[in-house]
Amino acid sequence: MKTKYAIVFICIVALVIIEKENNIISSNTTQNGSLMVLKMLLSKLTGTAGNNSSHSEGQEEEDLVDLHSYNYSSGHKHILLLATTRTGSSFVGEFFNQHGENMFYLFEPLWHVERMLTAAEEANNRFVGPTIYRDVLQGLFLCDFSPLEKFIFPQPKDHVTPSLFRRESSISLCEEPVCTPVIKGVFERYHCKTRQCGPLNLTLASESCLSKQHHAIKTVRVRQLETLKPLVEDPRLDVRVIQLVRDPRAILASRMVAFSSKYQTWKAWAQDGQVPEDDEEVMRLKGNCDHIRMSAEVGLSRPPWLRNRYMLVRYEDIARYPMQKAEEMYKFTGIPFSPQAREWILKNTQTTQEASGIYSTQKNSSEQAEKWRFSIPFTLAQVVQRVCGPTMELFGYRLVNDEKTLINKSISLLEERLFN
Ligand SMILES: *[C@@H]1O[C@H](CO)[C@@H](O)[C@H](O)[C@H]1NC(C)=O
Ligand SMILES: *[C@@H]1O[C@H](CO)[C@@H](O)[C@H](O)[C@H]1NC(C)=O
Ligand SMILES: *[C@@H]1O[C@H](CO)[C@@H](O)[C@H](O)[C@H]1NC(C)=O
Ligand SMILES: *[C@@H]1O[C@H](CO)[C@@H](O)[C@H](O)[C@H]1NC(C)=O
Ligand SMILES: *[C@@H]1O[C@H](CO)[C@@H](O)[C@H](O)[C@H]1NC(C)=O
Ligand SMILES: *[C@@H]1O[C@H](CO)[C@@H](O)[C@H](O)[C@H]1NC(C)=O
Ligand SMILES: *[C@@H]1O[C@H](CO)[C@@H](O)[C@H](O)[C@H]1NC(C)=O
Ligand SMILES: *[C@@H]1O[C@H](CO)[C@@H](O)[C@H](O)[C@H]1NC(C)=O
Repeated sequence: MKTKYAIVFICIVALVIIEKENNIISSNTTQNGSLMVLKMLLSKLTGTAGNNSSHSEGQEEEDLVDLHSYNYSSGHKHILLLATTRTGSSFVGEFFNQHGENMFYLFEPLWHVERMLTAAEEANNRFVGPTIYRDVLQGLFLCDFSPLEKFIFPQPKDHVTPSLFRRESSISLCEEPVCTPVIKGVFERYHCKTRQCGPLNLTLASESCLSKQHHAIKTVRVRQLETLKPLVEDPRLDVRVIQLVRDPRAILASRMVAFSSKYQTWKAWAQDGQVPEDDEEVMRLKGNCDHIRMSAEVGLSRPPWLRNRYMLVRYEDIARYPMQKAEEMYKFTGIPFSPQAREWILKNTQTTQEASGIYSTQKNSSEQAEKWRFSIPFTLAQVVQRVCGPTMELFGYRLVNDEKTLINKSISLLEERLFN
């Protein structure tokens, strides 16, 4: 207890000194690190060192862990955009990719891990995914590519690879100095969108990463938020998790288009109107919905390790109010919403230009978000509602009882919800 009071005292003194230096204490965003940390520390310590000593040792330890995470937050932020396929995560990822020169963004680096693990797990009949995904993410947030390198196939030579998945989706990996000149005749097909680059030198990527203040990773490959606890608690990181969700009926409709051949079974079911409830495909859909819901339940229950570090966002809200939602997300992450990001969003939410590819992010987002209602057969919408009911309920997606309602655009299937 004595030490606690001593710390409080030191904090107050320090705070006064800093306050003098700054002249003002305001929410001015250019104020960084130390002051915030001290204020945090102070409020926490006075909170627990007051008249009640009913806090357990465990609680104090938790508070301390929480405080550590402010150590590194001298500006560095680590954003994890957590989603599933067809939730608009490429689009939302761009909000951060386009931030500007202070951002190092990676698009689905875990693709490599998943591909290799799937084979290995099938061989060993053992599921090891969550810890490996987490360790690779941790490495990447710290600008260490070596844990990921083990999963890149073919194996990089001298830390150079022409095979990084969707390299062109990361601005940092396509600009100087990471973009090296193309060697004539070699790897010529590995280029970025705006320029030709030689194979990726991961050492250069790591150096670029270290030089940038903020790091963001988008992934659709983490199934359970809870498995990330050690990552979020890593004192070297200041992790913010944004979970992106979407109406599961829309996801199915979108997947049936994007991954057409994989969804032949569903198309057949839609044709003859019969869907076997215990089919593997239906069970997988249910599993996905359950995982998404359970992750959200963990996040929304605000456990101490996720305090102020979790945000749930619905794709539909982003489609309706892209600028406002982007602003909220940036505010949550503590990163200034840059003019470049703002401009990109403006450009890409107002265009009428049709999507040029299935991964394209150039869409009229509010229109796009409702299209599924006309493409999904009602039978399949019913199946989704049956197995994903609790998930839809949690996120505020209205069930429909007949096809007329499904395709009646003047009936909204979205309940207004505030999650955070
Ligand atoms: C913060 O304060 C600095 C100088 O005190 C000023 O230049 C800057 O515009 C302020 N920023 C905001 C967001 O108020
Ligand atoms: C002590 O706790 C009570 C509530 O239990 C609170 O009203 C009071 O302000 C506290 N006193 C101090 C000095 O923190
Ligand atoms: C303080 O402790 C008393 C008794 O131990 C308890 O009834 C009260 O709720 C506590 N107050 C706070 C603010 O924790
Ligand atoms: C903190 O802000 C000051 C100016 O307010 C700046 O000189 C310093 O470089 C900043 N430190 C970090 C770590 O961002
Ligand atoms: C990759 O970049 C590093 C850092 O500049 C350099 O030392 C290394 O030689 C490069 N590797 C290759 C194979 O060019
Ligand atoms: C806190 O920050 C300092 C300087 O940035 C660093 O050396 C130290 O390792 C950090 N402590 C922890 C626990 O991360
Ligand atoms: C985007 O779609 C919405 C909904 O259909 C429509 O109202 C709006 O005019 C479209 N915007 C542009 C720029 O085409
Ligand atoms: C669509 O729903 C609205 C509101 O419930 C209703 O007034 C309208 O008649 C419906 N349109 C069709 C074509 O069913």
